[in-house]
This record gives sequence, C-alpha cells and structure tokens, in this order.
Amino acid sequence: MTKLDKSLFPEDVFSEKNEEQEVLFTMFTDWQEGMKELQTLTPSDDRYQELTEQLEFLKSRLLEAMFLREIPFPWANGGMAIDISTGKCAGAVMNAGGIGVTTGTLCGPNQSQETINNSEIKFDERVNIVQNANKTEAVRQVEIAREKSPFGILGVNVMHALPDFEAVVRAICDTKKIDILYVGAGIPKNLPKIMADYPDVKFITIVSEENLPKFMEKIGKKEGSREADGYYFEISKFAGGHKGRQDENRSPKEILEQIRLVIGEEKPVLMGGGVMYGSDILEAFKSGIDGVIMGLRTLLTQKSNAPDEILKEFYLDPEKTKTATVRTSPTGLTSCINIANQEEFDAERKNIEKYIRSRCVSCINHKRCQFFTKKNPESYCIGHHLSAFSRGARWSLMFASNRLEEILTDSLYTKNGERYIPTIPELVAYIQKTVEHGTTWNPEKKGA
Ligand SMILES: Cc1cc2nc3c(=O)[nH]c(=O)nc-3n(C[C@H](O)[C@H](O)[C@H](O)COP(=O)(O)O)c2cc1C
Repeated sequence: MTKLDKSLFPEDVFSEKNEEQEVLFTMFTDWQEGMKELQTLTPSDDRYQELTEQLEFLKSRLLEAMFLREIPFPWANGGMAIDISTGKCAGAVMNAGGIGVTTGTLCGPNQSQETINNSEIKFDERVNIVQNANKTEAVRQVEIAREKSPFGILGVNVMHALPDFEAVVRAICDTKKIDILYVGAGIPKNLPKIMADYPDVKFITIVSEENLPKFMEKIGKKEGSREADGYYFEISKFAGGHKGRQDENRSPKEILEQIRLVIGEEKPVLMGGGVMYGSDILEAFKSGIDGVIMGLRTLLTQKSNAPDEILKEFYLDPEKTKTATVRTSPTGLTSCINIANQEEFDAERKNIEKYIRSRCVSCINHKRCQFFTKKNPESYCIGHHLSAFSRGARWSLMFASNRLEEILTDSLYTKNGERYIPTIPELVAYIQKTVEHGTTWNPEKKGA
C-alpha cells in the first residue's frame, strides 16, 4: 500500500532511490528526529551544542538538495493574510515536519487600530504608521516562529501588490532568520534585484501559468539581479483566496509541463490549491510536482489565528457553509470566499463605507483600490474586512478554497460528537490516512 511518511512524502514514488538520495532521505529523518530531541534539551546540556551544529548542517544540506531537486519538499502551509498564518502557526508546522510559512502581508492594521480609528491623524501620517507596523509585526512573527523551531525551514509570504512590499521584504530578510521567501499577487519586477542582496534566502515566485515564469527567468538574468530559485503554481479553480488568471480546462500536469518548457528541469515547482487529502498529494508527486502547499487545511487548525468559534460556526456547518467565486475584491481579481456570513458582511460594508474611506491606510495602494476609487460599487475595503477575520468579527472577509463544502464533514473535524478544530499533528496524521481517498483535486478527474 502507498504511504506518506511523516513529512507527507509518498514513499513509493521515491522507492527507486539512488545512493545519494538514500543518504539524503536518511539525513532528512535525522534532521526531523534531531529537532524533536532538541526540544527536550537546554543550552546547558552537553549534547546541546553538538546537536545544534548537526542540525544547522543537516538543514542547510537538505535545503540545497530540495532546490536542486535531489529530494522533494516537505509540505508547507499556505501563507495567509492578514494575521492568519502567524509565527505560532509556522512554528507548529515546522515542528510537525513541514515548512512553516508566516505571512508578511499587511501585518500592521491589527496593531494600529487606534491610529486607523483616529480621525485627527492625517492620511500620510496614518499610512506611515501602518506601514511601519507592517514591517515590525512581520519581523516579530518571524522571530516567534524561529523561537518555536530554531532549525526548521521557515518561509514568509509577501504580496507584491502592497505599496510597502520592498520595505517589508528587506526587513524580513535582514533578520537572517528565514530560508524561503514566497511572493505572489502581481508581477514582481523588482524582486530579482532586491534578492541579489540576500543570497542566503531562496525565493519562490507564485504563478498561475507559464507567462510569469518566462518573464521572471528573463529579468533574473540581468546584471545585478538573481533568478527565482523556484516556482509555486496555484490551481486557480480550487485555491482559497485570490485567484490568478488561468485556463481552468488545463490540468495541473499540463500547467506544470508548460512551466517546465519555460524554466527547464533544474528548478523545483511546487503546487497548491485544493490539496485536501493524501490522495491529492500522491497525484501531485506522480505528475512531477516537487512539493505541495495547503492553505485551507491549515486554516482549519488550532494554530491558525482564526478563532475556533468562527471556524466552527462559519466553516464547519453543513447547513450554513458555502463558498463562491466573486469578482468584488478591490484588487480587481476574483477570489474564492466563504459566504456563510454574507448578511453580516453586506451590512457592515454598507454601514462603514463612508467612514472607512476616511480612514484609508492605502493597504493595497489607494489609487488602484477599486473600493477607494469607487470603480466597483460591489467592492469592499480589504484591510477592514480581512484584518477583522483574526479578530473574530462575524462580518469579516473569509477566504476559502471551494473544496471546503467537500471536506467539512471529514472525521478530522468531529470529536466526541462535537465540532472540533484539530491540531497540526492531527491534520498531518489525517492526511497520511487518506492516501486511498480518491482524488478529486485533478480537474481531469473531477466527477469521474
Ligand atoms: C484565509 C486565506 C488567506 C490567504 N492569504 C494569502 C496571502 O496573503 N498571500 C498569498 O499568496 N496567498 C494567500 N492565500 C492562498 C494560500 O497561501 C494558498 O496558496 C492557498 O490557500 C492554497 O489553496 P487551498 O486553500 O485550496 O489549500 C490565502 C488563503 C486563505 C484561505
């Protein structure tokens, strides 16, 4: 029977390992075991120093091997703004054998509510205060994650569409505590140049098809620039949050093949969007993917920053929970959201419309914001509605994969007859058990 090991690698896909891969897989196990052992030690123990040196070496060799495609990537959680995949989430994912990803996107609004609500503060000053908070908080979350897992692989997700993108990326990379930067939302023209200053941080561009990789490969070759170390493509049809432009009739395998035609065979390509079961992971690895990312599954755990009660009421109620793909995001993109709270959302949107425009913090650049500019009357203030999700507001914006309805009755979310939000290790154990589930992730197979 096919198995997924503790980091969700499918063992039989790699059953014909060459000698070097055997060594790397053993190193992988040693690294995972070593991280567990470290949690039982204190710096004054004799073994501590020796073990930390070993772990430093193992992590760096394994990271290199992943980016050289010598071994697959462990699963990673999706980066989730605002304040959803924070340091505690990334730390827990790393401690469960995965790649932990904090969000570096708009971490400031929840820390700056007093400023935002203060009508005395002028626009420029308000924007400045919130942007400073974005940086400080993104860095703080990296530090929290690192403290929880000193030798795990740590990533940060930042959206390029933000006006303070470069400042946030530099602040995060300057910590020297992260391993991978994931960048999505937009065409990150300045990224190869910025990352030339941070050779120790790998960077992955999030794409929906081959056009962006083509562009990134080209600009990465320019003098003073660096090429992307890898790509992450989202299956727009399924992914939670904003959707990229993608021909939904193409299967993930076809998208991968097109990306490979552009970038060649050397760099890893990761995939996410609708990965819900062990069977999805197997399917992905079999089609040549180097690693998977899970957003919604991580959101529905105790370590995401979304309050359990909100998850239970809006995400896990078969009577209420419903997703829809809508074109109302102020970014102009379509997004998949959970509309279980539609009434509350609409009421708040109407109530605060005028008030909130006067408190704008230019989170996605007010000149391009379809809410601020009134370009789309159905649009909303994304900073206001999305930051409220982690604060537990019933009218908040609730992103979700449109496979949510399919998974909400999974046994993972029930304990002793009650609705239950699992831990990260419980999620991993469940995914391991579902390799025989039957994949619906692959659009080719959907409904088959
Ligand atoms: C609540 C939520 C917030 C998200 N925020 C971001 C984000 O800030 N940046 C980003 O690149 N992707 C974001 N995503 C997408 C995830 O990182 C991930 O790519 C996606 O959720 C994978 O699809 P899945 O949810 O079907 O697993 C978000 C997804 C959700 C559910």
